[in-house]
Amino acid sequence: MSERVLLASGKVREIYALDDDRLLLVASDRISTFDVVLPTPIPDKGRVLTGLSAFWFARTSEIVPNHLLDLGDDGRSTVCRRLEMLPVEVVVRGYLSGSGWVDYRATGEICGHVLPAGLRESERLPEPIVTPATKAAEGHDLNIDEAEAADLCGADHYAEAREAAVAVYRFAARHAEERGIVLADTKFELGVDRDGRVMLADEAVTPDSSRFWPLDGYAPGRPQPSFDKQFVRDWCLATGWDRTYPGPELPDDVVSGTRARYVEAFERLTGIEFDRYLADPKVVL
Ligand SMILES: Nc1ncnc2c1ncn2[C@@H]1O[C@H](COP(=O)(O)OP(=O)(O)OP(=O)(O)O)[C@@H](O)[C@H]1O
Ligand SMILES: [Mg+2]
Repeated sequence: MSERVLLASGKVREIYALDDDRLLLVASDRISTFDVVLPTPIPDKGRVLTGLSAFWFARTSEIVPNHLLDLGDDGRSTVCRRLEMLPVEVVVRGYLSGSGWVDYRATGEICGHVLPAGLRESERLPEPIVTPATKAAEGHDLNIDEAEAADLCGADHYAEAREAAVAVYRFAARHAEERGIVLADTKFELGVDRDGRVMLADEAVTPDSSRFWPLDGYAPGRPQPSFDKQFVRDWCLATGWDRTYPGPELPDDVVSGTRARYVEAFERLTGIEFDRYLADPKVVL
């Protein structure tokens, strides 16, 4: 093992440098809602995120190259290419939900995309749209339109990144739907290597970066139940919490309910039992 130098500690991951070209990302069990890290961890959450990301990276490398080089035996660490990250998050939305629904209701548009009138909450969009956001250093991400994203990234890099993101979204949404899950939207982070190649990085199509809805019972016109963070978000808000630090401690049933939703997303999407992943993480590759 090379010597590791801690570069940064994100809300969820520790980022170590192995050398000039490689990073070690270690996904913790921390959970954040509304950009606040809660005081209570969710056991194995970091393993779910790492395993699912590796599963998608292994299956989409023909669509777009990605940063994954190796997956650790602990199920929560990955060796990856060290990239110059693009300064925007590339969100692909296939359905109308979250901030997209809020913006559409107010203006009929989302991040500059004019949509047909009369769409309902959670309705499938005619085509997936890309709604970039800046990675705010402090506080919350800010939605921007695609022209601004192209300015920030450089037009060529942004064009490549958004095309890759839409293609991976389409692939993952089709795969998920065959397994009874609607991939409503998902956020990608991409970076550029020394040779100028745009690559998929960070995490991919996980419950932290996506909205997953059960296909069974899906009906537009209302919010959908989900296999992601919505459960814990709803619980936190019901306590009257004001979305600022410190977040509430989670009771045992909320911890186990959240863990169960993450594990169910993993098992349904990969078709692999989570216990098998714990025994040998490389089964997802
Ligand atoms: N291949 C890569 N090369 C360089 N940086 C990467 C790579 N993959 C992911 N990252 C960065 O590593 C960090 C992952 O940590 P984590 O997901 O905990 O961060 P976050 O809370 O989402 O964001 P923040 O950095 O704002 O805390 C992100 O800043 C991400 O952009
Ligand atoms: Mg992150």
